[in-house]
Amino acid sequence: MGEDYAATRCPSPIGAPSVSWHDGAVTSVLNDSPFVRACRGQDVPHTPVWFMRQAGRSLPEYRKIRAGVGMLESCRRPELVTEITLQPVRRHHVDAAILFSDIVVPIAAAGVDLDIVAGTGPVVAEPIRAEADLERLRPITPADVDFVAESVKLLVAELGATPLIGFAGAPFTLASYLIEGGPSRTYLKTKAMMYAAPKLWDALLSRLADITLTFLRTQIDAGVSAVQLFDSWAGALSEADYREHVLPHSARVLRGLADAGVPRIHFGVGTAVLLRAMGEAGADVVGVDWRTPLDHATGIIGPDHALQGNLDPAILFAGWDVVRCEADRVLEQGRAAPGHVFNLGHGVMPETDPDVLTRLVAHVHEASAR
Ligand code: CP3
Repeated sequence: MGEDYAATRCPSPIGAPSVSWHDGAVTSVLNDSPFVRACRGQDVPHTPVWFMRQAGRSLPEYRKIRAGVGMLESCRRPELVTEITLQPVRRHHVDAAILFSDIVVPIAAAGVDLDIVAGTGPVVAEPIRAEADLERLRPITPADVDFVAESVKLLVAELGATPLIGFAGAPFTLASYLIEGGPSRTYLKTKAMMYAAPKLWDALLSRLADITLTFLRTQIDAGVSAVQLFDSWAGALSEADYREHVLPHSARVLRGLADAGVPRIHFGVGTAVLLRAMGEAGADVVGVDWRTPLDHATGIIGPDHALQGNLDPAILFAGWDVVRCEADRVLEQGRAAPGHVFNLGHGVMPETDPDVLTRLVAHVHEASAR
């Protein structure tokens, strides 16, 4: 099936003859892109914008191409990954693409028996609850995720001057799925292990940090221009617990990529009290959800970090006048930060009208032009 749609694939979104570009020329164009420059706190011609979960169910072309193919299976087919990743770039003209994958892809590659169930999320067949269970989570090598490297290479060639963001789940968020066995509202079993069995906890999060590092290194070596570490559910923790039990593991991932020279974005939901710590973990950019205004966030995080965010994804359902007004507010508050990448405060909801996203991108570009 890969070949079928590869043949019908639309031209590269910017029409760049990218495969013939000299490697160095591509790198320098990407380094000069508004997205990478904003991540570094450098001047930009306009505020760059992309959306978490831009590749996915809000797009009819996504639903069509995914019909009959399981989520994990689609992440393992490079031509399909390439097509799905490109769809929102073509449609919305966002300033960055994000690799179509999922945070559980590397732990599936590490041997964990899991599935991504539509409408539910990742479900783990045998949750990790005891020391002996750790054996089910072996280290990975780049060969275990070679389909990701191949996808990235195909994408970099197609994207030309548009940067590609690689990503991974952070050790805490991955651990929460492995321990709970699936999504959770309370993180009861996760927290119980953290408090009651700190040695097992550290051993589990260390393994996850190693897997995550290998997974992100593989993406960087294949050519992504930035990485985002999703600690989506870290907001369940107090700052003290985050600093003691989680930050050291996330820091090992983020600091372990320092020499790669690509911007590192660190994001979580409900993290108002964790923002400073999440910056200290070794991020260049801190992703902020909609609860914390960006000018307030930059006051907490300090002047060394750019910000990403933070329009409430629900605002996209409130009509264009509200969307425009709230987007202007986000842009205004983002000016307080040394660099601002416009995004939503969390992922695009499946019911979102894609035309609103397209219009929002155009508006952000126009309203922030300088
Ligand atoms: O466009 C993008 O942002 C890239 C694709 C992407 C997906 N998952 C595709 C996906 C990214 C970046 C992720 C990361 C991810 N996966 C996170 C961190 C981001 C966040 O939302 O906080 C988390 C927590 C997961 C785990 C996960 N996978 C959940 C909670 C779900 C949704 C369950 C559902 O069906 O509502 C998934 C499945 C998933 N990952 C889908 C997509 C497009 C939907 C599956 C489908 O299309 O059938």
